[in-house]
Amino acid sequence: MTDQFALAESAAQLILARTALRPQIGIVLGSGLGGFADSLTDATRVPYADIPSFPQSTAIGHAGRMVIGKAGSTAVAAMQGRVHLYEGYSAHEVTFPIRVFGRMGIRAVILTNAAGGINLGYSPGALVLIRDHINLQGTNPLAGANDDRFGVRFPDMTQAYSRRYRETAHEEARKLGVTLHEGVYAGLLGPSYETPAEIEYLRRIGADLVGMSTVAEVIAARHMGISVLAISCVTNMAAGILDQSLSHAEVLETGERVKSTFESLLRAVLPRIAKDVAEGSDT
Ligand code: HPA
Repeated sequence: MTDQFALAESAAQLILARTALRPQIGIVLGSGLGGFADSLTDATRVPYADIPSFPQSTAIGHAGRMVIGKAGSTAVAAMQGRVHLYEGYSAHEVTFPIRVFGRMGIRAVILTNAAGGINLGYSPGALVLIRDHINLQGTNPLAGANDDRFGVRFPDMTQAYSRRYRETAHEEARKLGVTLHEGVYAGLLGPSYETPAEIEYLRRIGADLVGMSTVAEVIAARHMGISVLAISCVTNMAAGILDQSLSHAEVLETGERVKSTFESLLRAVLPRIAKDVAEGSDT
């Protein structure tokens, strides 16, 4: 077995050697939402190809680099693009970047994604805070021998999505006049979109959103004691809800449309999470 801990440590050292910043917040920018990283100041851009053992993203709409920079006075490490299980990567590979974040000293992550809306109260362009998830990806990044240096064998998932961060996000959204929903995210393997029958099933088991990412990252983050805030952008209503078929182009277009609202929310939330991290209050 390869020593994931040692690999994550070398990747983290390579990244930190390129910047004087020591971010404690990591951000993963999903499909169509990568623009935020371009607005960071004092930025250092590290292509994933330069980082040892780092998986390379193949999906359209993902730039494939980590940008370490400042949003206002808050230092962050932002991933422009992630890899997915549907690309053929294992759950270990998909979560390697989160482990690198952990070894870089990151204490909180903000995960973003594009998702299909199942809840009829949503419409394309809606922003939804993830309150909880249902893992239907058929795998778990912690399967296999546990490495105690990352975390415990059976990590608790009852508070996977920090209540405190969710309250912060709601408060900031209210101040900005941005409607922010909250819901349960069902994570599927993909890459095919769901059938209408699968969406009906997901609705009945309590899902408000469906997507093909994030869940494995949250599990790996919680394993390492990293706090999580996760925001979905509803890029389309899920299959069978509207009388139309789904396309990746629609997903990217909606991402483009809400990007400025999304970025304002991120900007407002960041300094408050930075303060929480500094004070060690993150639940
Ligand atoms: N299903 C799954 N993943 C998605 C969707 C969807 O409808 N939209 C964006 N990501």
